[in-house]
Amino acid sequence: MTADIRDGGAQLLDLAVAVAREAGRMLIDKRPAARPDVVVTKSSPTDVVTQMDQAAERLIVDRIRAARPGDAFLGEEGGSSTGSSGVRWIIDPIDGTVNYLYDLPDWAVSIAAEVDGEVVAGVIENPNRGETYTAVRGAGALLHTATGARELRCRTGVPLDQALVATGFGYFAARRAHQAEVLRAVLPRVRDIRRGGSCCVDLCSLAAGRVDAFYERGNQEWDIAAGGLIVREAGGRVEGLDGAPAGPELTIAAAPDLFPALHDLLAAHDPAHD
Ligand code: IPD
Ligand code: CA
Ligand code: CA
Repeated sequence: MTADIRDGGAQLLDLAVAVAREAGRMLIDKRPAARPDVVVTKSSPTDVVTQMDQAAERLIVDRIRAARPGDAFLGEEGGSSTGSSGVRWIIDPIDGTVNYLYDLPDWAVSIAAEVDGEVVAGVIENPNRGETYTAVRGAGALLHTATGARELRCRTGVPLDQALVATGFGYFAARRAHQAEVLRAVLPRVRDIRRGGSCCVDLCSLAAGRVDAFYERGNQEWDIAAGGLIVREAGGRVEGLDGAPAGPELTIAAAPDLFPALHDLLAAHDPAHD
């Protein structure tokens, strides 16, 4: 086991932060003045990949591989490979591609480092806001801005009917129709809903106390690896239904005192149905 794994992820985090910031700067500097071209669509015609998603993932994988040639990768845009070191990097080069396409500010670069299957370090770089969110397992979560760093804590003591809840919707029409039904049940029971367009930014907002909870069906590993660690290290709970791990079936995230009420409300409306 190498020293950077033994130190609990702090060195892995340093590398991830440097690379995420470089990718974030590149995405701002090289964003075409006209809309970036959609080079491919994935699960549906509105699930798009731009040349910038691909360029950012290439940059991230190239930089990390140059520093750590034995590591494995899981990248949303296909930069996946096996390794020999026990470390795997989980990368969403742009989380919030539709926002990026429309030049809406909330998109971010998300990079997590997993050691032997457990996420130990994560960074979410939101260049338009000048915000870098980081966490190391067992060592807390921080928000770094030009003026310094502050510790992140999810807000506690918020009852469900006062909770500001972030969510997202899938790319398939049938799934969205059901998500609208679930939302019909949730909306009258909470303060309000936010649909920001970037799941990892939503999770950072929860860790920073800017929203009180998050739920979504369909999140992939790269959407929630770094953000899940950041929320947990900020005192939050991140799970699926009935104690299952968060993932494609459902992700629910909230402070521990709010989590059960939101979980039970969602569970009563079949949220993992398509
Ligand atoms: C998407 C965003 C969005 C969420 C979708 C994700 P992408 O990621 O996080 O907020 O609702 O489920 O797929 O496609 O922009 O990387
Ligand atoms: Ca994503
Ligand atoms: Ca993405």
